[in-house]
Amino acid sequence: MPDAAGMKPFRLVKFFSFSGLVIFLVFTLVLSWLISKHAKRVLLERSEAYSLVVAENISHQVFQQFVLPTVVRYGKIALRNPEQFKMLDTIVRNATHGMRIEAVTIYDSMENVVSYSTIAARIGREGEGGDEYKKALAGESNSTVAASGTIFNLMPGSDPISSQLLTFIPFRQYKPFGENTDRVMGVIEVVQDLSEDFEAIVRLQASIVFTSILIMAALFTVLGFLVVRAERIIEARAEERQRLQQKLSQNKRLATLGKMVASVSHEIKNPLGIVRSTADILGKRLKVLAPGNEYLANIIVDETGRLDGIVREFLDFARPQMPRLVLGGVNEVVEKVLKFMESEFASSGIEVECDLGKKMPQVRIDQDMLYRAFLNIFMNSAQAMPDGGKLTVSSSWRRNPPAVIVRVDDTGSGMSEEKKEHIFTPFYTDKNRGTGLGLAIVKNIIDSHQGVIEVESKEGEGTGFTITLPQT
Ligand SMILES: Nc1ncnc2c1ncn2[C@@H]1O[C@H](COP(=O)(O)OP(=O)(O)O)[C@@H](O)[C@H]1O
Ligand SMILES: [Mg+2]
Repeated sequence: MPDAAGMKPFRLVKFFSFSGLVIFLVFTLVLSWLISKHAKRVLLERSEAYSLVVAENISHQVFQQFVLPTVVRYGKIALRNPEQFKMLDTIVRNATHGMRIEAVTIYDSMENVVSYSTIAARIGREGEGGDEYKKALAGESNSTVAASGTIFNLMPGSDPISSQLLTFIPFRQYKPFGENTDRVMGVIEVVQDLSEDFEAIVRLQASIVFTSILIMAALFTVLGFLVVRAERIIEARAEERQRLQQKLSQNKRLATLGKMVASVSHEIKNPLGIVRSTADILGKRLKVLAPGNEYLANIIVDETGRLDGIVREFLDFARPQMPRLVLGGVNEVVEKVLKFMESEFASSGIEVECDLGKKMPQVRIDQDMLYRAFLNIFMNSAQAMPDGGKLTVSSSWRRNPPAVIVRVDDTGSGMSEEKKEHIFTPFYTDKNRGTGLGLAIVKNIIDSHQGVIEVESKEGEGTGFTITLPQT
């Protein structure tokens, strides 16, 4: 389970990063909306100015080229007369030719009726002019926008975006030199199509929104990826810490246990020595007094010897000594142990193959401790091969980093993976008369030499130990 203390500040960071992204996204959306709003306003202002100029120009031309000549020629203006209509139509179309003007409509001043329009269907319609018409009639030029369409109209299949600017100006009489009079003869309506510009603005808005969503999505993905990784690292750290804590408390317990074992073992050692020497004397006397029964005393001697061995192992384990490191040869130690075990190997039918490296460097070792370590390893091998087998011992020198390496292989029972995990744990044993301390002591000794001990094993095939002692 992950450690809460490690996770909490990280959760805060996670929260801030994600909410930061969300705020940023909202901010960009608002910004895109503001930008497009501003762009639309600028567009409208410009277009309105343009429409006003165009309308003013139409008004002027119509007055000069149509109203005046028509009045002179026909006496009065009657657009029902096709000739007059044709004349007006030509003038209006010429005046707007090549300009961005969709339609031009002229309203009458007396009644709200369309007198002329470039859209033929509108001519003669009544009541078409709204508030804008009335305002213009009162002398005030004004505009209105007829727009429809949002971002969603960009989607295929939806209605196209449309926008029209309708500008109304009063149609005044002009004096001969061109200046306006106050007499309003009608209202000119100019329609400018802004659909394309509007669509461009909406497209810009859409592309801002789309890009920012895309960027945010990418950032979210990256952040999410980082968060997952960070969480994994934090979890691993928490696990590691927990493991260390467990190990620490286990070590504490073992230390207490060790002290206890040491004092008990120490107390046992002396009486045991006395029992042993007494049994020895008893045996000698029995030989004289009751010949044939001295084996009874010998049993006591043998068993106290074994007990003594156990007590020594307990003491070794419970009171690990500081090694006294002096330069020495590892091969010599190995040979000494093999010599000591010779008879034991022979009696179990174990063949020993010894391949120790020539020209081995001397390393800093505690010979006594190393002796005990190899003794334990060889004894385990012997015990794993009760019906005989082969023990191979070899040593070599590694150049980089410099170290002496000893390998011990046996063809004994081997171990399962699970067992292999535990063999260095104190008191772990699968033997009736084992203490389970042998390899724990070996590990302590190798550790105190800054060395490494590794094990390979296959159930039913054998076991190999590799001991690496650094050359410092
Ligand atoms: N060479 C080996 N072959 C197979 N098993 C071994 C070997 N060496 C050690 N073991 C296993 O490791 C266990 C622990 O060994 P050790 O610490 O020496 O305790 P003990 O010898 O008292 O059982 C042994 O009980 C045995 O199961
Ligand atoms: Mg052992």
